Amino acid sequence: MLATAALVGLAQAQGCTREFLKAAADSFVAAQQAGNPSLLAPVSANTVYHENFKPATLASGILKTPLKIDHNRSSLDTTLCATYTEIVSATGSKPYVVGVQLFFTNQVITKADVLVTTTGDWLFNATGTLNWAKKEDWGTIPEGKRDSRAVIKAAGDAYADIFSNKSVVVPWGRPCSRLEGGMYTGNGGPNDRCDVGIPSGVSLVDRRYVIDETVGAVSIFLSFSGIPDSHEFRVEGGKLRFVHTITVMNGRGNGKGKRARRGMISKEPAR
Ligand SMILES: *[C@@H]1O[C@H](CO)[C@@H](O)[C@H](O)[C@H]1NC(C)=O
Ligand SMILES: *[C@@H]1O[C@H](CO)[C@@H](O)[C@H](O)[C@H]1NC(C)=O
Ligand SMILES: *[C@@H]1O[C@H](CO)[C@@H](O)[C@H](O)[C@H]1NC(C)=O
Repeated sequence: MLATAALVGLAQAQGCTREFLKAAADSFVAAQQAGNPSLLAPVSANTVYHENFKPATLASGILKTPLKIDHNRSSLDTTLCATYTEIVSATGSKPYVVGVQLFFTNQVITKADVLVTTTGDWLFNATGTLNWAKKEDWGTIPEGKRDSRAVIKAAGDAYADIFSNKSVVVPWGRPCSRLEGGMYTGNGGPNDRCDVGIPSGVSLVDRRYVIDETVGAVSIFLSFSGIPDSHEFRVEGGKLRFVHTITVMNGRGNGKGKRARRGMISKEPAR
């Protein structure tokens, strides 16, 4: 395991700047908007493409479908040389919420890991996702107020860990709001809280991270008891502020994960 300083050096040697990462993330959004996979860049013959955690091909995946882009937001990880992008298409012919992690080596995308959700997926409601996502502030955090990578990652991990271990101390913020599918655990007010309806006995494993300290964000792609899932966190002052989830239910996953996900809904406070 390379130390962080060594990773940073490596990324810089590879020209892994925020500008480079932003251009690549933007190319995914442009490809999605155009329905033209060949706009995604820079790829090579060896670029690995996974959709909903299964090997797939760029040419036959979601990018071949043009989507009206109502919202997109990317976080850029110059340490690991990776990006995460959230895309919401709510006002087109068929609604979608897409999440993608891109990983780079030598300025080429080595892996594109894409989660695609639509009607029928976990609490899916692209209109709701769009409304809430637009209201939230995921903007740049002033340099003196930024949390370290370790603090941001630990906050996301603690949230993921509490699903299987109730002794874990999670740095809950107040307010803190969860956007799941299209459902919100609050109303955008000062009393929103995230420590509601957390099931037990569910393992969130196989975690893959993209961290952007400038916006306090950590994206974690993980297996939610076998179900392809994305949890993204905004951390402010070491505490959780926002949680976004994308969960692929359509005919996938195992019974345990589905029951766990249903368990959450029944425990949600009435609103
Ligand atoms: C993606 O989001 C950025 C920032 O909000 C915006 O400027 C850009 O136009 C969006 N792209 C598309 C294709 O909508
Ligand atoms: C989806 O979300 C919108 C906006 O929050 C809401 O008006 C609508 O009722 C929701 N639809 C469903 C089916 O829950
Ligand atoms: C559960 O979390 C607590 C607090 O972080 C930790 O001490 C304990 O080792 C964890 N238990 C397991 C089984 O991981």
